[in-house]
Amino acid sequence: MIGGDPAGVAHLYVHLPFCASRCGYCAFVVEVGREDARDAYLQALLAELGRERAALGPLRTVYLGGGTPTLMGAERLGALLGAIRPLLAPGAEVTVEANPETVTQPLAEALAQAGVTRVSLGAQSTRPHLLRVLDRRAAPGDAERAAGLLRQAGIPQLSVDLMLAVPGQAPADLAADLAWVTGVGPDHVSWYELEFKEGSAIARGPHAAPDEDLAADLYEQAIAGLEAAGYRWYELANFARPGAECRHSLAYWHARDYLGLGVGAVSTIRGERRRNAPGLDRYMRALAAGDAPPRATDVLDPDTLRRERWMLGTRLDEPLDLAWAGPPDRPAALEHLVAAGLVERSEGTVRLTRRGRLLQNAVVQEIMDFA
Ligand SMILES: C[S@@+](CC[C@H](N)C(=O)[O-])C[C@H]1O[C@@H](n2cnc3c(N)ncnc32)[C@H](O)[C@@H]1O
Ligand code: SF4
Repeated sequence: MIGGDPAGVAHLYVHLPFCASRCGYCAFVVEVGREDARDAYLQALLAELGRERAALGPLRTVYLGGGTPTLMGAERLGALLGAIRPLLAPGAEVTVEANPETVTQPLAEALAQAGVTRVSLGAQSTRPHLLRVLDRRAAPGDAERAAGLLRQAGIPQLSVDLMLAVPGQAPADLAADLAWVTGVGPDHVSWYELEFKEGSAIARGPHAAPDEDLAADLYEQAIAGLEAAGYRWYELANFARPGAECRHSLAYWHARDYLGLGVGAVSTIRGERRRNAPGLDRYMRALAAGDAPPRATDVLDPDTLRRERWMLGTRLDEPLDLAWAGPPDRPAALEHLVAAGLVERSEGTVRLTRRGRLLQNAVVQEIMDFA
């Protein structure tokens, strides 16, 4: 058994694909509109949960992501979370992603009532010209209004997603987002560099990605600003107040097993990676017929798993335990990077230095052979 948890899988992701429109940069499995399909989708998810239940141990984390999970509406989300509740371990983290413009007082109260412990709010930016470049539906004030409603409803933890290296973003724009986020004071912040994903509308123009130097400056500006405000830079794109790290994401970076339910969802269980196929109707038809969803399964060989542990584990500010991760492919390159001040080594562990973390992908590519 590779990486399996004898007590059963402790981390559950559920994909809720519906969106009101597709943002130009988005390459996720998303269904625009399809109000007619939402009841049937809930039934399909419940059927898939029923099929997989035996693999699950007490769940330590649950993450409802999308898409726009809040477009499922309070009642369907309540039914889904009600089916999951008997499987939760005491003190489980239950996160729901929410787009700011979809958060109303009744929805916020329903989420709190359903046992949601954490909401991840997709603000992306507070600057009107950048929200337009990103095709966001939210108005600049929506994220702050949503944060207020979620807190009033008693949601224990709030996280905010922001983006950097957006076309047209200047250091002054990032400074405005920093002032905003430290003013709102969420427990956790994810600040992602915008990726121009193949096939997405933004990759076809007319906007050009900012040059690498500006992107690197914006990243360092975000890190410095959040650290000054008391957030720990615990993962390359993630920052938390003490104790507010996302436990679900940590499980992923620690390469633990997780089950993904829903169209396009990915699972990694006991050295196998399973990918549910995209295609909402096919997914729903299969489950309505009592079948497994269409999916592909790959067996991950020990070398692939070892390289993944290095790639994921070095994203964190904690040391990578070599007894767990396995040996480097190129020990000489590792020594060279230690001498260059990009990696620190101590008894049985390695850790990227702050400078090494800014170059994490290139550093790991030097050490490991991802051919
Ligand atoms: C699953 S996504 C979508 C969540 C939600 N629908 C929203 O848009 O706010 C979670 C986060 O990934 C980030 N993201 C999505 N596409 C990205 C891209 N192309 N590059 C970088 N970050 C991206 C966004 O910050 C987003 O909030
Ligand atoms: S970024 Fe979020 S809201 Fe926009 S299309 Fe993708 S999942 Fe939907």
